[in-house]
Amino acid sequence: MTSKMKLVRSLVKTVALATVPKHIDHFSKFSPSPLSMKQFLDFGSTNACERTSFVFLRQELPVRLSNIMKELNLLPDRLLATPSVQLLQTWYIQSLMEILEFLDKNPDDHRVLETFVEVLEAIRNRHNEVVSTMAQGVIEFKDSYGQQDPVTDHNLQYFLDRFYTSRISIRMLINQHTLVFNGNINPAHPNTIGCIDSQCEVTEVVRDAYQSAKLLCEQYYLGAPELELRQVNANNVREPIQISYVPSHLYHMLFELFKNAMRATIENHKASSTLPPISVKVALGGEDLSIKMSDKGGGVPFRKTERLFSYMYSTAPRPSIEHHHRTPLAGFGYGLPISRLYARYFQGDLQLYSMEGYGSNAVIHLKALSTDSVERLPVFNKKALRHYKLSLEADDWCSPSKDPLDMAVYRVTK
Ligand SMILES: Nc1ncnc2c1ncn2[C@@H]1O[C@H](COP(=O)(O)OP(=O)(O)O)[C@@H](O)[C@H]1O
Ligand SMILES: [Mg+2]
Repeated sequence: MTSKMKLVRSLVKTVALATVPKHIDHFSKFSPSPLSMKQFLDFGSTNACERTSFVFLRQELPVRLSNIMKELNLLPDRLLATPSVQLLQTWYIQSLMEILEFLDKNPDDHRVLETFVEVLEAIRNRHNEVVSTMAQGVIEFKDSYGQQDPVTDHNLQYFLDRFYTSRISIRMLINQHTLVFNGNINPAHPNTIGCIDSQCEVTEVVRDAYQSAKLLCEQYYLGAPELELRQVNANNVREPIQISYVPSHLYHMLFELFKNAMRATIENHKASSTLPPISVKVALGGEDLSIKMSDKGGGVPFRKTERLFSYMYSTAPRPSIEHHHRTPLAGFGYGLPISRLYARYFQGDLQLYSMEGYGSNAVIHLKALSTDSVERLPVFNKKALRHYKLSLEADDWCSPSKDPLDMAVYRVTK
């Protein structure tokens, strides 16, 4: 490339970059359109139309990207200035610009549709490391500025929940489009439409996740608790439990729960020669599919349960990011919060009930019906904005005195 051409290219790029805030403002005015599992399935099966999907996505992806980019900009300046968050922002801007290129393209031109699939695949790869990069940014921010005030911590938790949900949803849209329209039908899995399995056999995923966690656990502890698995299908006692779901999402949640349950069980039974098993019960009713995982790992105090869902909270030593060769069993503190986002993404939930001194029950609730499984998406609006502008106020419940006999507390005025 001649130096003149290079100059022209970089000029074009600079001019295009200057228009980014305008595009973000425009697209963030639209609310994202949540899709149901049924819509994903119907769309990908009989009447899959690449043109319709293309026209939907070239609008919807910029809307979802812009909504979350607005919120990203509300983070503390010192966090935005970290190299990791700067890098992450360039990915978002580049991906947004690449999709916007398609706004004036002809949907009836098959070459346009082909390029779109390629661009989406490139975007998906570009964003592979978003979670670890964002986590790294938060670590850099905390390491250089020390413990944050409760308001900053609250805002960060609020933001990360929404940011990672947005990412899950964008990847879901990209995966569906690229898998359904890449021309390959997967003969091994005829029930699979994109990344959704319309007959996802839940206990199979439980067993897969258990096996992987067991392998990992054995590397660290030279042993792992056994699995006890039971299922109750209230709709049809003889049939195995099946739902329409994204197996990779379910696997992610179960793998994280198994790793936690195994670590707790082993740490809590160091002195004994046998390990109590981890028991999993799967139940299907008319509305809910529930999975309960019980361990005898000693549990956590009730007061700390909500804290376990906070990003960065972990009782394991922080694994070194440089040591990629060994998958850590625990330590980033992202297991529970991200798993809960996956559960909530299709209107489910994930909760942890602990009995300190005995063990924990982790429960995943999912919607049994594909019409109830609708994407749960963040939207940038006045209410969201208010969250970031929240200031520190006094609690509206009295804080208990450390020494109840200290009468001085009664004389405290407001
Ligand atoms: N089943 C469990 N029993 C006891 N403690 C648990 C259990 N599950 C999670 N925890 C606690 O919650 C913390 C956060 O879990 P998680 O989000 O998976 O992060 P990590 O496993 O990386 O520490 C763990 O470090 C552990 O202290
Ligand atoms: Mg974990």
